[in-house]
Amino acid sequence: MDAAGMVIASEGRNVSVLVKNPDVEVGSILRIGDSYGIVAGMLYQEDEKIGSKQRLLAEVQVFGRLSGKRLKKLKRPIAPYEAVSLAGKEELEQILSAGDSISIGLVYGTKARAFLNAGEYDRHIAVLASTGAGKSYTTACIIKEFSRLGLPVVVVDTHGEYQKLLSALSAETPLQLDVHTVQHRRQGFPELKIPVSQLEPDDFNHFIYLTEPQESALGIVLDKLSGEYVMDDIIAEAGRLDTQTIHEGTIQALKRKLITLGRMFRNVFDKCGTDISKLVEPGKITLIDTSLASQGVRRAVISYVAKEILEGRINAVNRMEGTSIGYPLLFVVEEAHNYAGAGLTHSCKRQLQRIASEGRKFGVGLCVISQKPSKIDEEILSQCNTGIYMHITNPNDKTHIRNSFESINDAIISELDGLDVGESIIAGAMLDIPFLLCTVDHIKMPSERASKFNFKRPVEEKKQKFEYV
Ligand SMILES: Nc1ncnc2c1ncn2[C@@H]1O[C@H](COP(=O)(O)OP(=O)(O)OP(=O)(O)O)[C@@H](O)[C@H]1O
Ligand SMILES: [Mg+2]
Repeated sequence: MDAAGMVIASEGRNVSVLVKNPDVEVGSILRIGDSYGIVAGMLYQEDEKIGSKQRLLAEVQVFGRLSGKRLKKLKRPIAPYEAVSLAGKEELEQILSAGDSISIGLVYGTKARAFLNAGEYDRHIAVLASTGAGKSYTTACIIKEFSRLGLPVVVVDTHGEYQKLLSALSAETPLQLDVHTVQHRRQGFPELKIPVSQLEPDDFNHFIYLTEPQESALGIVLDKLSGEYVMDDIIAEAGRLDTQTIHEGTIQALKRKLITLGRMFRNVFDKCGTDISKLVEPGKITLIDTSLASQGVRRAVISYVAKEILEGRINAVNRMEGTSIGYPLLFVVEEAHNYAGAGLTHSCKRQLQRIASEGRKFGVGLCVISQKPSKIDEEILSQCNTGIYMHITNPNDKTHIRNSFESINDAIISELDGLDVGESIIAGAMLDIPFLLCTVDHIKMPSERASKFNFKRPVEEKKQKFEYV
């Protein structure tokens, strides 16, 4: 056991430890008697005897004691002068693992796996950091771990990067990947299609804004159509609406909107469409690659898929008619600020808000990833009970995070600047301790180069001297 120091002051769950070991850092987990605590801050304090800033103190938040294999709450304060040691690998793993657990890396500065309580995925997860801090790599590890437990995962992959990341992870744990592209075909993957003939009038709000009279006129049009039909059939039928009962202006405006819609979603709408319930199967990771689609199409597809998923689960849980999704799942949304932006009026934000507030009851976990946390709707962020924070410097983002998460405190916020690529602070429902500093596993990509400037210069051809004859 590595000696770390000694308790010099103790009040409730907060303890000051005189540090005697250079390995003690913010995030270190310490053992004090039979209790455990985490270093939330460190400072040098003047030593009265020597009259200089000599003593290094660690502010420790004590979170409980191990009883058997379970972490129990503390009932009395820690006694002063108690010896303090650094928790060892086995103790750390015992503290962190509870029931079904996943692990995305190591406890910072140790060889112990950082376990998270997987059962809390449906209280939603937010992965937040500045650009390039390692969000996508971290999320790929999270997806791999949940898939290993059998949980279906549906990912909205805005940059089309998860196929490569998860294929690299597949080398050690075989993963079942199913890629669907949107609006354009790539590498022979099937395209995600939306079945026009199954859309209700209010489903059209995923794609375009309709006024109330336009939506009710569309309802009349759809009632007249039957079987499988396409956008052109809807437009033709709208042209036959009775001008005696519906205002001419409404009919013309509806027709114009439907024509625009048909053009914009030419490659997305289809007679039959993709069965969303088939995308959700145990152990399957479905990647909806929207990287080739326009922003409007991306938002519409997310709005549609989010609604189908939640309603499919509601139908399954309540044994109701309609599309039924038989398994709980994790729904991952990259670049969430584009789909759940505070100022966004698109219906995709409403659908994500619904999953954030109702998803848990129906086994739909939401994982939002963003490099602009301050732009995300506060209601959605505050429903994310687990936060995975990586390097962040922007003060607005920090304030927004501070206001949106119960589990985060000033100690965590002040550490975000100092995190390196791949390092994260995890706090919230998936942990039994106040927070955890984690070094996320690196994913070795086959294409990784040592330098970005590894260009091959064109070889200069030596010109032959012509000999004139
Ligand atoms: N756990 C890790 N350990 C070491 N290096 C890492 C780790 N995670 C990511 N990196 C490095 O950081 C780079 C950026 O990672 P990643 O693409 O995950 O960042 P990001 O936050 O998603 O960026 P963006 O905002 O552009 O989406 C990667 O190319 C990789 O080399
Ligand atoms: Mg990324």
